Amino acid sequence: MPEFILVNSQVAPFVAHVQLNRPKELNALNLELMLEIKEALLSLDADPNVRAIVISGNERAFAAGADIKQMAGRTAIDMLIIDQFTTWDSIRKTKKPLIAAVSGFALGGGCELAMICDMIIASETAQFGQPEINIGVMPGAGGTQRLTRIIGKNKAMELVLTGKFISAEEAKAYGLVNKIVPVEFFLSEAIALASDIASKSPIAVQMAKESVLKAYEMPLQEALFFERKNFYMLFATEDQKEGMAAFVEKRKAEFKGK
Ligand code: CAA
Repeated sequence: MPEFILVNSQVAPFVAHVQLNRPKELNALNLELMLEIKEALLSLDADPNVRAIVISGNERAFAAGADIKQMAGRTAIDMLIIDQFTTWDSIRKTKKPLIAAVSGFALGGGCELAMICDMIIASETAQFGQPEINIGVMPGAGGTQRLTRIIGKNKAMELVLTGKFISAEEAKAYGLVNKIVPVEFFLSEAIALASDIASKSPIAVQMAKESVLKAYEMPLQEALFFERKNFYMLFATEDQKEGMAAFVEKRKAEFKGK
């Protein structure tokens, strides 16, 4: 049983929920918690009854960053040997869509975890930031790269070099947040978005996610080629036959993930 997270593999049909659960520490991401998220996502990714995954904290905090108390006494060689970011690499490789439901603080590693997710639903109280500079370090779980790609160089530079937080409104204006809702709805809204995605063909969803992410990882020509191969591949699925037949017959498609 995990100690620092709660996992519900069917919070709604085909939708799983992973909740960070260290409320007293504002869900600070210690190594154990990150390993638990990794294990949970590996198992949910392999579960055919799960098609989309919501990751949340609680109303006060999504996560206030890596656990500073756990890191404070470490040397560079300790950090190298522990190599915590291989855990993050595994999380990043989750094939199913990940939706972050963010309320309160999403700081440092918390902001980085939200950015590994594919979409972010925020409550009106959400605050995002990369405040590592205030404790003598810098983002290490992708913050300098993902934030820059999402919100642009100048704004990312401002957040990373000053450590200041931005509101949900500002984060949305910069494209970091998909939608803002009142605090009581941040989780239900994320689950509704996940449910919508879970009603599509899960194979098409996976291939589409993989293709969108290539926009960050490959030059355009190669990425277009990759996209094309995935598009062609989907014509091998029963879901493609069903989806197109349903359109022609003017009925709702029933996707089976085959
Ligand atoms: N690590 C460990 N403990 C943390 C923590 C963190 N990142 N963030 C908060 N906590 C703990 C506090 O120490 C406090 O515990 P105690 O009650 O035992 O003292 C408890 O959570 C509540 O926090 P505060 O009393 O500080 O609450 P607040 O409302 O006054 O302030 C806050 C909230 C502004 C988020 C403040 O807690 C804060 O600045 N936290 C640190 C944020 C930060 O610097 N994050 C980056 C971490 S480094 C990183 O993430 C590296 C990376 O790239 C992976």
